[in-house]
Amino acid sequence: MQVVVFSFIVYSSAMSSLKLEQVVILSRHNVRTPTSKNLGRMTPQFWPHWKEKPGFLTKKGFLLEGYMGKYFYTWLNKEGLLPAKCPSEEDFYIYANTMQRTMYSAQAFVRECFPHCNITINHADTDKPDPIFTPMIHNSTDIFKEMAFKEMKYIFNHLYLNNSYNVMEDILEFNESDFCKIDKNCYLAADITEFNITAGKKPEVAGPLKISNEAIDAFLMAYYNGFPFKDVAWGKLNDTNWHSILDITAGYHNITFCTKHIARDIAQPMIKYLTNIFFNSNTRVILLMGHDANINVLLSAMSFKPYELDYNFISTPVGGKIVFQKWLDEKANEYLLKIEYVYQSNEQLREAAVLSYDNPPQFKLLELEHCGTDYRGFCRWNDFINFLSIYDL
Ligand SMILES: *[C@@H]1O[C@H](CO)[C@@H](O)[C@H](O)[C@H]1NC(C)=O
Ligand SMILES: *[C@@H]1O[C@H](CO)[C@@H](O)[C@H](O)[C@H]1NC(C)=O
Ligand SMILES: *[C@@H]1O[C@H](CO)[C@@H](O)[C@H](O)[C@H]1NC(C)=O
Ligand SMILES: *[C@@H]1O[C@H](CO)[C@@H](O)[C@H](O)[C@H]1NC(C)=O
Ligand SMILES: *[C@@H]1O[C@H](CO)[C@@H](O)[C@H](O)[C@H]1NC(C)=O
Ligand SMILES: *[C@@H]1O[C@H](CO)[C@@H](O)[C@H](O)[C@H]1NC(C)=O
Ligand SMILES: *[C@@H]1O[C@H](CO)[C@@H](O)[C@H](O)[C@H]1NC(C)=O
Repeated sequence: MQVVVFSFIVYSSAMSSLKLEQVVILSRHNVRTPTSKNLGRMTPQFWPHWKEKPGFLTKKGFLLEGYMGKYFYTWLNKEGLLPAKCPSEEDFYIYANTMQRTMYSAQAFVRECFPHCNITINHADTDKPDPIFTPMIHNSTDIFKEMAFKEMKYIFNHLYLNNSYNVMEDILEFNESDFCKIDKNCYLAADITEFNITAGKKPEVAGPLKISNEAIDAFLMAYYNGFPFKDVAWGKLNDTNWHSILDITAGYHNITFCTKHIARDIAQPMIKYLTNIFFNSNTRVILLMGHDANINVLLSAMSFKPYELDYNFISTPVGGKIVFQKWLDEKANEYLLKIEYVYQSNEQLREAAVLSYDNPPQFKLLELEHCGTDYRGFCRWNDFINFLSIYDL
């Protein structure tokens, strides 16, 4: 308690000479429906019914993302970044991936920021994938493929998921599923996991790790969407087994998007886009609406230090935002960078809590391996720019 009070005093007095100059937000869309086509084959039990099509932002997701928009507007307006009148594209620029869930998340956010304004959501042609947001592999050489395989294999060999798989088998009643009865794959821990690296595609994982991750994703979305507990993993989850199965999700994401070479390769277009903003753009607020994969590869490629988010099940929550803040220290006449993960807690998501200064979203300081932070969590803007300049793209 004393520590908290102390750091607050230091922080607020130090803040007086600081002025927020620019904010760049990389966001994951909010709550969507499950995307997996395998759900019916992995359990004899019925899954809850969703009103929206597979992979679409839900009505609840739209509401939750609006709460984020409102909170960010209040914050950034108070800091002098967003105007009270309708913003120009110099004030506020929005760029979303072309999928329904990202476009609608952006709309939900913006509508609560500026309810009476006609604001453009910028996006690529809707008939083809946007390379900035598509988490695909670019490098088609054999040497890259070999290296990528090695990286994935290494992480895979360090996963200890047998206990988690046993819990999943119980929850799914996997021994009565089509996977078991028809395909004769009855034991998740013993079934084979395969990888595939193909240029133009995402890193692919096949087998129990993928199947289980898809099921857990469906549990998480049902939980966040506010379904009754009997419709979230058929009421079989408690604190202990939630945490056990979430290791599967973490392992899946670590293998697909958190390996060094793969992440660097996939993140390249997004990093180029962001670097251009940090070097050249005077736009005050920029919102990019994408996916967890975009966040995962960016964090790995830019060598962020490991972090843990409190009060959320996963490391890339729905509606969660990496917020790059450029501050001017007027006394020292120096620009500073602070990076925070801003996200809704499990409870704020499930309960659809209205966000405000009294009930803010969660803030978690993120740190770069190559840009040392001071006691307030700032690194020097020049160090950051240097890091981006020498960074091997
Ligand atoms: C909003 O802007 C778009 C594009 O600039 C325009 O086509 C549309 O008519 C505008 N709508 C309103 C209600 O002003
Ligand atoms: C592909 O990956 C290999 C191995 O990492 C690397 O040497 C090569 O420069 C990469 N090629 C491109 C076009 O990025
Ligand atoms: C599946 O497992 C449950 C619980 O262990 C058991 O009661 C049931 O008989 C099993 N079903 C089959 C088809 O083996
Ligand atoms: C996990 O289960 C598999 C299959 O049953 C077994 O081969 C492997 O040794 C187990 N791993 C550990 C660490 O117990
Ligand atoms: C890997 O991808 C290639 C090309 O798409 C495909 O032919 C092959 O069957 C895939 N292998 C696995 C194990 O998914
Ligand atoms: C959680 O549920 C499992 C059954 O899936 C049970 O074995 C375990 O004792 C429960 N733990 C708690 C803390 O209730
Ligand atoms: C995933 O990677 C993170 C960061 O390196 C690590 O802390 C975590 O233990 C890993 N989780 C699993 C299940 O491998």
